[in-house]
Amino acid sequence: MHMRALILAGGKGTRLRPLTVYTPKPIVPVVNRPFLLFQLDILAKAGIKEVTLSLSYQPNKIEDLLGDGTDHGVHLSFVTEPSPMGTGGAYRFASRGNRETTIVLNGDILTNADIKRITDFHRSKNAEATIALFPVPDPSNYGLVETDQEGKVLRFIEKPSPEEAAALGLNHINAGIYVLEPSVLDLIPEGENASFEYDVFPKLLDSKKPFYAYLMDSEYWRDIGTPESYLAAHHDLLAGKVDGVPDFESGESETATTAIIDSSSVIGEGCVIKPNARITNSVLGTGVHVEEKAVITGSVIWPYTRISTFSEVTDSIVGRGSHIGRNVTLRAGSVIGDKATLPDYSKA
Ligand code: GDD
Ligand code: MG
Repeated sequence: MHMRALILAGGKGTRLRPLTVYTPKPIVPVVNRPFLLFQLDILAKAGIKEVTLSLSYQPNKIEDLLGDGTDHGVHLSFVTEPSPMGTGGAYRFASRGNRETTIVLNGDILTNADIKRITDFHRSKNAEATIALFPVPDPSNYGLVETDQEGKVLRFIEKPSPEEAAALGLNHINAGIYVLEPSVLDLIPEGENASFEYDVFPKLLDSKKPFYAYLMDSEYWRDIGTPESYLAAHHDLLAGKVDGVPDFESGESETATTAIIDSSSVIGEGCVIKPNARITNSVLGTGVHVEEKAVITGSVIWPYTRISTFSEVTDSIVGRGSHIGRNVTLRAGSVIGDKATLPDYSKA
């Protein structure tokens, strides 16, 4: 059966600010690759060629970077909403009258889910809609899903309060991967704002159409929409916890013989690393300068940033083209935007 994919990539990425002020969330670098390439990889692996990106925030930057997709094994098209229409509204808008089975992905999840297995499951159940679920310890920031023995979806509760979640005793959440038959389009009024989570899924349940859940178990899954989870995704990738992703390679850089770079770190093209600098479990983008005796641990540094002498950056993220002065301390959890200047001796 012919299938296409739609990636919902129109959100503003507010929780990832300041990183998303100049870089929309779908293309934030993840181990020096635009994030969406990890999603194109799993779609291409499942033999899905036609991929549409549903955009709204800074669409041109995304189009310019990803092109027509041929470098990544897919054929990419772009649909930009005049204003954000919500997740369900964006699906209806992007379908533009096409009535095909569609795989819909939230554009901010890092996963190695086997899309082919999910679509096979969908067919074996004769479902109108299938949703992938992933178990998490605290489901309150997600869509909580209740299913029966056969995997039928019984309830969908978006963003339950912690009390509500605890009372329900459920921990499988909406992983943001759906397989939808075109009949789902009929539940979404044309030209209107609609949310899968608050409108479409409840309607689908009311309609009693076959709506099934596919349980992910051994696969990796994470929403990268906050600085904490963006950094954690890097730590997981560097630790080799995500099977199936391409090997990460460091570029050509100018590294002093007395600099120490551990084997899990990834160093971008054209970096300059001065004597006695120490880099551990970190990712440096293209053209980053690290001066004498600077120490970078568990951090992600975006391209063309300078970390000056004696500075210490720990479990932090520093945006593009920033200047971190000498003797600066960035403690765990610091997030510095693009084009920032931190004066010597700053502490954050
Ligand atoms: N085109 C378009 N238009 N895309 C949108 C819009 C819109 O109006 N609104 C959101 N998106 C995209 C975002 O860019 C993101 O990739 C995806 O839809 C989900 O939106 P988020 O804002 O990241 O939602 P969330 O993380 O709070 O919750 C969603 O994801 C969870 C899993 O990560 C929900 O689907 C939850 O149910 C789910 O558990
Ligand atoms: Mg999200």
